[in-house]
Amino acid sequence: MAVDTRTLWVLLLVCVSPWSPAEATKNIHPRLRLSYRELVEMNRTWVFQGSDGALQNPALLLDEYQERLFVGGKNVLYSLSLDRVNAQHKEIHWPSSDDQVEECLMKGREKPECANYIKLVQPHNRTHLLACGTGAFNPVCTYVKAGHWKEFELDDDHAESGRGRCPYDPNSSVTSTVSRGELYVGLYTDYWENDASVCRLGNQSYTRTERDDRQQLNKPKFVGSAVIPDNDDPGDDKVYFFFTERVSDMDGGNRAVHTRVARVCANDLGGQRMQVNKWSSFLKTRLICSVAGPNGIDTHFDELEDVFVLKKKDDKNPEIFGLFSTTSNVFKGYAVCVYSMEDVRSAFNGPFAHRERPEHHWSVYEEKVPFPRPGSCASKINGGQFSSSKDFPDEVLRFVRSHPMMFHAVRPQHNRPVLLETGGGRTLTQLAVDHVEAEDGHYNVLFIGTDNSVVLKVITIYNKEADSMEEVLLEELQVFKMPVPITEILISSKRQQLYVGSEVGVTQLRLHQCDLYGSACADCCLARDPYCAWDGVTCSRYYPAGHYTKSRRSRRQDVRHGNAIQQCNGLQISEEHHGRVQQKMVYGVESNSTLLECSPRSLQARVLWFLLRGGDMEEVTDDDHVVHTAHGLLFLKLRRSDGGLYLCQSVEHGFVQPLARIALEVLEEESVELLFHRGGARGADEDEGEAPPRPPLCSPPALPPGPASTKHWYKDFMQLIGYGNIQRVEQYCERVWCAASDKKRKKLKALPPKWRYSQGSERRGKQRAPRHSPDS
Ligand SMILES: *[C@@H]1O[C@H](CO)[C@@H](O)[C@H](O)[C@H]1NC(C)=O
Ligand SMILES: *[C@@H]1O[C@H](CO)[C@@H](O)[C@H](O)[C@H]1NC(C)=O
Ligand SMILES: *[C@@H]1O[C@H](CO)[C@@H](O)[C@H](O)[C@H]1NC(C)=O
Ligand SMILES: *[C@@H]1O[C@H](CO)[C@@H](O)[C@H](O)[C@H]1NC(C)=O
Ligand SMILES: *[C@@H]1O[C@H](CO)[C@@H](O)[C@H](O)[C@H]1NC(C)=O
Repeated sequence: MAVDTRTLWVLLLVCVSPWSPAEATKNIHPRLRLSYRELVEMNRTWVFQGSDGALQNPALLLDEYQERLFVGGKNVLYSLSLDRVNAQHKEIHWPSSDDQVEECLMKGREKPECANYIKLVQPHNRTHLLACGTGAFNPVCTYVKAGHWKEFELDDDHAESGRGRCPYDPNSSVTSTVSRGELYVGLYTDYWENDASVCRLGNQSYTRTERDDRQQLNKPKFVGSAVIPDNDDPGDDKVYFFFTERVSDMDGGNRAVHTRVARVCANDLGGQRMQVNKWSSFLKTRLICSVAGPNGIDTHFDELEDVFVLKKKDDKNPEIFGLFSTTSNVFKGYAVCVYSMEDVRSAFNGPFAHRERPEHHWSVYEEKVPFPRPGSCASKINGGQFSSSKDFPDEVLRFVRSHPMMFHAVRPQHNRPVLLETGGGRTLTQLAVDHVEAEDGHYNVLFIGTDNSVVLKVITIYNKEADSMEEVLLEELQVFKMPVPITEILISSKRQQLYVGSEVGVTQLRLHQCDLYGSACADCCLARDPYCAWDGVTCSRYYPAGHYTKSRRSRRQDVRHGNAIQQCNGLQISEEHHGRVQQKMVYGVESNSTLLECSPRSLQARVLWFLLRGGDMEEVTDDDHVVHTAHGLLFLKLRRSDGGLYLCQSVEHGFVQPLARIALEVLEEESVELLFHRGGARGADEDEGEAPPRPPLCSPPALPPGPASTKHWYKDFMQLIGYGNIQRVEQYCERVWCAASDKKRKKLKALPPKWRYSQGSERRGKQRAPRHSPDS
């Protein structure tokens, strides 16, 4: 249905109110969020930067056989190692010639546009790649020697025109794929971008769509393409193109956009007497990605942003993932829909669409359809009557030309998107998918690129009983230092790596980092990452049955439910004794504010606080003097009665984990003042021999047992105070209480800071206002 004003109203409503309650259960927070720095520090990512400005919308080709990643940039081609994209790359400088640049400038173009933007890099034969660039608005192609031994050089003798293979404009959309040595391309073939074409360039043949036929292609934006066999007869292989195009709306305008899947026979040679060198099999239909709204009005995601064809063992039946956005100006939303080949084929095998005039409605074509069925290939499976499309009757060619559109659209699996992004916060640009076998089934792991350098790692789980979709946002990874749009994501399942392109570089990113979730069984199960399982000792890479593993029987994983209670029953070997539960002492000053810090690793966990009194646990709830914050429990105005032992627990999927025990000591206002008064009065040269009576503040309070029970508890106190008196307090307390020898003190100072203080106090220091230098 076209977007009319009624739909816009619904969109607006949907925008303010959440999607219908039956829709996806969804947690907007990723379970883990990792910054660029963190990814680099843990060696999970490596970045290739290229020379300045060389990578604008780079064209990437993954060659797993030669173990290289080929990257086409501005005036340059790179060959990177799949192991480490930033190590020992090779490059070929391939600019436009001076003549070309001059001609380009004379056409009125700007200097930067007159570079050679390499938009197409495809395998050509065993030893060569084909590379095509815009060549200063005069497309050029060449062959690149890229054989074994990391050879990488331009074959200068073989430069040729790139017309029909590469667009003129660097910003123009293009898609290409190679099968059996033939190149299939969707692009605009002319300078003015009037002639959109889907074509094949073989060694002996050239076949394309009709020129200026708006029925076949109407101002398309090309997004993707793939060759998919229909059966075991290669003569029946089909090439699929994914693109958006303009459709006429009710009032005869041409503004609405729909997403299309089109297909041709790979072996189509066109007609003999008519439609020479034109497809005899070009058919297309609409790909629908929509959400059912109230009142039966669907909200459509019509703009295809990216497509990913997920290959399976059965190469005839890949799954097709589309990343879509809305076309509305009012409301921006994104959705991922998945299509099965069965549904795609049945749309192409269904009725043809027919309309008398462009402004009429489409209806089913009811008349007799000629034989062989238009859109079928000249293959053995089809009876072997036609050895080539050149033998097809004129009637068939005429029909296919006048009826390229199928009546039925392709609807997504489960009739709904697997993923929805409607908060308006993020712009999604790219998509890659991995098919992963886990203990409790197969999962598609989606890697989605955004416009601000983030890659989202998501699984989606369909619940049959409830007919609902659950999105689990496993990780949010910032893969470039600067926030830039991600323009390409390629995946190598074999290497368990992602290769991500943007204008600032190409990043390589490991698909998983299981140890990051924590080493306990519960940590691993709660993560719900199909790549990871608890192996009896720690959280590590999961290998499905058949692979060698240490102790298969002790492996625990529950992607579907994240049920750590069931999976890890009896395995919570007193985690407190393993030092996993942080123990610390915190000092607060009466009437002042104090933060008890505690934040779970998982951003999806809920935190509960309890005050332990005798044997009782009393939950701490928000009121006018205490609030739960993302960093911990904040007392706005500390009371004497707030002192005591606090327990911080996380709850995730019903699994409760203690995170920290914090003893809060409330210092009375008067004694603090007293301390400063007395501390300040002491001179540095005072006689060490006569130790004064130990003031109550400096005596070590009863600490809970644990690694945090450091003797340097006063550091906590100093940070709490947060001002220039620190040094005096330190000197004072150290002298009075520690009575440590100078030697001991020096030793202490020589240690790196993280050994000197408990982790808790150090982290708190970061969140407080900057401390003054202690030299007042
Ligand atoms: C990362 O790699 C470097 C060298 O390649 C190594 O020195 C360092 O220990 C690694 N860091 C981690 C966290 O593995
Ligand atoms: C391509 O698009 C970018 C941003 O939209 C623009 O800055 C640039 O000039 C365009 N280049 C050409 C050749 O049109
Ligand atoms: C590959 O193609 C290039 C360019 O057409 C040609 O020079 C070369 O001989 C071919 N190599 C093989 C092994 O066919
Ligand atoms: C193109 O050439 C290759 C190798 O030279 C050959 O195998 C293939 O059949 C040719 N394709 C066509 C359509 O002629
Ligand atoms: C309370 O905290 C503020 C800063 O947060 C500090 O200036 C003040 O001295 C503190 N009061 C006491 C009694 O420590």
